[in-house]
Order: sequence, then structure tokens, then C-alpha cells
Amino acid sequence: MTSFIEQLSLERFPPMADSQLQAWDAADELLLDQHQLGEGAIWILNDHFGALGCGLRLADNDRPLYWVNDSFVAHQALAHNLEQNTLEPLECQQQIEQLQGVDAPAGIIIKLPRNLKLLSNQLDWLNAHLPAGTPVVIGARQRDMPSTLPELTRQLLDDTRPSRAIKKARLIYGVLSGRQSGQAELTSWHCAELGQTIHNLANTYGGKQLDIGARLLLENLPKCNGEMIDLGCGNGVLTIAMAKANPDCQIIATDESWHGLEACKLNSEAYSDRIDYQWNDCLSGVEGGSVDLVLCNPPFHQQQAVTDHIAWQMFRDAKRVLKTGGKLRIVGNRHLAYHIKLTRLFGGCETIAANAKFVVLEAQKRRQVSDY
Ligand SMILES: C[S@@+](CC[C@H](N)C(=O)[O-])C[C@H]1O[C@@H](n2cnc3c(N)ncnc32)[C@H](O)[C@@H]1O
Repeated sequence: MTSFIEQLSLERFPPMADSQLQAWDAADELLLDQHQLGEGAIWILNDHFGALGCGLRLADNDRPLYWVNDSFVAHQALAHNLEQNTLEPLECQQQIEQLQGVDAPAGIIIKLPRNLKLLSNQLDWLNAHLPAGTPVVIGARQRDMPSTLPELTRQLLDDTRPSRAIKKARLIYGVLSGRQSGQAELTSWHCAELGQTIHNLANTYGGKQLDIGARLLLENLPKCNGEMIDLGCGNGVLTIAMAKANPDCQIIATDESWHGLEACKLNSEAYSDRIDYQWNDCLSGVEGGSVDLVLCNPPFHQQQAVTDHIAWQMFRDAKRVLKTGGKLRIVGNRHLAYHIKLTRLFGGCETIAANAKFVVLEAQKRRQVSDY
């Protein structure tokens, strides 16, 4: 029998002509073919590029499907892949709390997120809001399953049992237990550099301390009296520092992670009258030639894949939205050699600061630079 995945045409988002990276993996295939859930609504959590949403829609056009993902890019990927396969849209939300009050599910399908804090947070919510005994199926490639996963699933689910491994992926079947992990909703820590408490939600980037790249950038912040963007703002540490030091500065704080943006809102509340918060993929839809400065501490992975294509897209978008004379200031790991990208794109770049691991670089949008 052909699997649902084989009947679909699926692309990562944004689609890249020469990419070797697939939009689905063996765990998606296994989840679609062997979820064993009965009739009724299905809730789908953390589906990276929409393979699960598309496959379940293809399997049954009438089944109510509720799809939750923190990532703006994942929402775009799902919409793109549904359209490519001429499938009907699903009910989509950014975080699990938004499912309160919708059709109780026959079961929940969870693609294992990279961050186990998010899984714990989602299972806690499900245990608090749905009847014990509701079926849950978690899927992942074996190499993406951390050693702590069995203990976490046994703590929060009953009747857990792993499937056979197929193509190096495995499912964990279980049912909701009603138990809680004890993990706090927020991870809160004192940021001495900003003189304030910083809160992270379960899927906000970072832990209980300042990112080391962000620290070097904080020590080397530019001045800005006009319009600036904190691109990939995460919990907002750069936004807060800029708002504090530059009382006339207007800021767009943007991230593709809903939990990133929510944390940024919470942490930068004192300056919110000067901040526009945007859930977005890089700077899509931001007007060209409109800002004086872009600050960026770019990511170097997408889901499990290490890749520099997001940094590339961020730098290109930054160039587009900067006014002539405007500047992009970034921090990056030395080995990523971002100076080559910036030089190619902007025609040059300056090293502002460096330490053993990181480098802060600045590029200026000149009048005559060709588009890469
Ligand atoms: C290295 S973290 C930096 C977070 C924060 N600015 C700091 O310095 O601590 C990179 C951030 O980029 C965000 N990000 C990843 N892909 C993105 C995209 N396509 N568009 C916007 N933000 C993205 C991540 O969610 C993450 O918050």
C-alpha cells in the first residue's frame, strides 16, 4: 500500500530550488500510517512543515483537524503544502492554550519538538484540560529522541509503549494521565546587564542566562534615534537594551517563534509604546527602505538541520528594508564567516568587536550596491 507521504508533494518553507533537505522524515510517515487513533477530531502538535496536517487531511477530508505550531514558518509551510496538494485548510493555532473549548479529540499526534521543555509544557496543559485516558502518539527519528524522553513520557502519560523502529524512527503510544510535570510556565532569571528579570516561555530561545553572542552584541550596541528592527528578537534582550539607551528610538521586535514574541512582549512591557511586535518570517512584508538600523543575532539551525539559509534570508531582508545609509549590525560565531556574506551583499563590512568565539560585524547600505 502506498503511504500517505508518497501521495503528497511536500516542500520545506521557504522553498529552495537546490536544497537537499526534505520537508518530512520517517517519523511523519510512521505517524500518518500507524497512529491507531479512532474516529473523531485529531489535534496535531509541532508538525514541522505540514506533512502531518496534509497527510491527515488527505486520509480523511471530513475529520476535524486542529493544528498547533509555535513557528510562523511552519504555518506558512502548512498553508503552502495544503495548497500544492489541493487540500482543504485546517484550524491552525500558535499555542496549545488556544485549543481550549474546541472539539475534544479522539487523540493527539505530537511530532517531538527539539525542545523537551515545550513537550512537557504541552503535556501539562493536555493533562490539565482533557480527560485522563485520551490517546497520545509521539513520533520522532530515533536520533532526535533524547535519553530523558522515556522518563518524561512515563511521568506524564500512562500505558506508554514504544513502537518497533521503522526506517530509524519510532512512535511512543500512551494515554493522558492527569499528572503534572511541576515545570513552571515561565523560566525567569535576573539579567545583570539589563538590571531586570527576564522571562522565557517554554519554547522561547535560550535558557536561564544571556546568550553569549547576545552578550557581545549588548556590549557593542549602536546608537539609534530613528527606526530600528530587532530581527529574531527572542526574549527581547536586545530590544530592551536599545529602548533603554535610546529614548527616541522606535523599534520593530520580530520573531518567527510565538513563544519568543510573547516573552519579548512580557519583558519589554515598560517600553511597549515604542515597540511594534511582529510574528513573521524574517522581514516579509516590511516596507523596503524604511528603517535606519537592523540588529540581529541570527539562528544557525532550522528544526534539527544546521543551516545558514535563515541567516542569509535575514541579511538579504535587512538590506531591502534599510534606508540608504542605514546599517545592519550582527553577531555571529567566528567559524560561520558571516563577513563573507555581508561583503557579498553590501559590498563591505566592518568588524566592530571580537572575542575568541564571536564577532560583531556591521554593514552599511550604500547607494550603489547590486542585489545579490
Ligand atoms: C540566536 S536567537 C537570538 C535571540 C535574541 N535576539 C538574543 O540575542 O538572545 C535567534 C532567534 O531567531 C528566531 N528565528 C529563527 N528563524 C527565524 C525566522 N525565519 N524569522 C524570524 N526569526 C527567526 C528564533 O526564534 C530565535 O529567537
